[in-house]
Amino acid sequence: MSDINGYVTDQEYTSDYHHAYTPAMLDYVALLNGIAPPERAAGQFRFCDLGCGFGMTALALAAANPAAQIYGIDFMAEHIDVSQALAERAGINNAHFHQLSFAQALDKDFEPFDYIVAHGVYSWVNADVRAEVTAFIQRYLKPGGVAYISYNAMPGKANILPVQKFVSHFAAAQHGPGSQRVLETFAQLQQLQQMGARNLQGKPELDMLLQSLGNEDPRYLAHEYLHSAWEPRYSIDVAREMAGAGVEYIGSAMLFANDERFLLNPEQQACLANFDNINERELVKDYLLDVSFRRDVFARAPRRLDPAEQERRWGRLMLMLTVAPDAVDYQVQVAFVEASIDNPVARSIVKALAGGPKTVNQLLSRWDMMSASVQDVRDVLFILLCSQQLTLVEQDKVATASRLNQVLADAGYVCNALATPYGVGVELPLADLMLAVGAPQGSVAERANWLRSESRRLGRMLRDQNRQRVADNAGDDAYVALVEDFDHRRAGLLLQWLPIGHI
Ligand SMILES: C[S@@+](CC[C@H](N)C(=O)[O-])C[C@H]1O[C@@H](n2cnc3c(N)ncnc32)[C@H](O)[C@@H]1O
Repeated sequence: MSDINGYVTDQEYTSDYHHAYTPAMLDYVALLNGIAPPERAAGQFRFCDLGCGFGMTALALAAANPAAQIYGIDFMAEHIDVSQALAERAGINNAHFHQLSFAQALDKDFEPFDYIVAHGVYSWVNADVRAEVTAFIQRYLKPGGVAYISYNAMPGKANILPVQKFVSHFAAAQHGPGSQRVLETFAQLQQLQQMGARNLQGKPELDMLLQSLGNEDPRYLAHEYLHSAWEPRYSIDVAREMAGAGVEYIGSAMLFANDERFLLNPEQQACLANFDNINERELVKDYLLDVSFRRDVFARAPRRLDPAEQERRWGRLMLMLTVAPDAVDYQVQVAFVEASIDNPVARSIVKALAGGPKTVNQLLSRWDMMSASVQDVRDVLFILLCSQQLTLVEQDKVATASRLNQVLADAGYVCNALATPYGVGVELPLADLMLAVGAPQGSVAERANWLRSESRRLGRMLRDQNRQRVADNAGDDAYVALVEDFDHRRAGLLLQWLPIGHI
């Protein structure tokens, strides 16, 4: 087993695109919290993904933002070699992948960045490596720049601490790839639980974790649980460490977490209002909600927007549907609240967006929106964004998105998103991606047959709309249902995501 600073490196990670830390989303988080996003004239910005893994987010961002410079840093050659090869094959020359440890990256002379992100890194590495991450931010983030750090959080992860210790300790003594060792060790833990191990009883988080193991990609499980450096963090400690890097907390890239109405009851909201310090408020929230994972957004020397500027920037936000207008769900669960947006404002917005991406100003100027209040419109958009039925996009940039989509499909649909010419990717389930990029034209039955044989040829598992696996021996009906669902929810939007000329 190879291990560098308590991080196990003998197992490749999964290859996922993560929308939460795209510049479009980070800018929205800043705006929601009254902070000026980084200035980026004519689509130019510099973005660095620390611990980028296979670099899917970096690749999609580079393809979707041709004027930007996108960097990915990771010490695993297995990851960086693949990212570089995909970028080359897709003709993307504004993505720069470096096989470096964070310590080595500190010694490079990078130009400063507008965005620095580290997803799935901070609570999986030891204190020395965390200090390298903060030193990188301190050295390389521009004034007004934004940093994103995700991490396992306390107190919500408290019951998983002994589980992770068990798994990482006993897996270290076994042989074979991490994906196998992690499953074998979880099986041992499960046996202990079944024989009545007292520490493993009465913990709903643990039961949920054990139940979900079969549904998870073992490569993810290996990277989540095998590292001896694994240490969930309190948000107040992370905020202190980030303050040392010269940045302050401005909001959460879990969108719902920016609006207390969806999280806390009135008594809890009143209690929170007693804390002036934003970091203490976050800590109290973590206790009230038993938070176990956080996506924190920080800014260097953040500039507060005055209401007029906030309004102007709000109007320029551009939005695109991710599900077909007829498939939009107007009753959605946002955090702990069942939110209903079955109202004329929401229906008008969806109707307007059926014709393609629009700015908030364009939406507001429609005759059927004349009587809508700005707050109502913001609330509807927020809920549609939280439920991922809408995505924030940027102006059309004539990008290399289609070529990347084809390269990723040829490589076996290795990324969970379509790159678009709008500055972001659109996350899609594998079946939808295959039908969008790879499927030949044909009837529902023909495409269902293709989907079955192609997914088998690639050895890839498909999931239905409810994220349930399609069994290996599933009949025709299961594949027909996937195609029908795609036709209902997505097909009509393909031309929006990939306009003519980009396909
Ligand atoms: C859990 S993966 C997350 C990958 C990617 N950010 C994602 O979310 O898909 C963490 C990544 O950090 C990289 N990493 C961990 N410690 C590192 C270090 N000290 N220097 C550079 N990369 C490191 C690992 O190789 C791995 O690819």
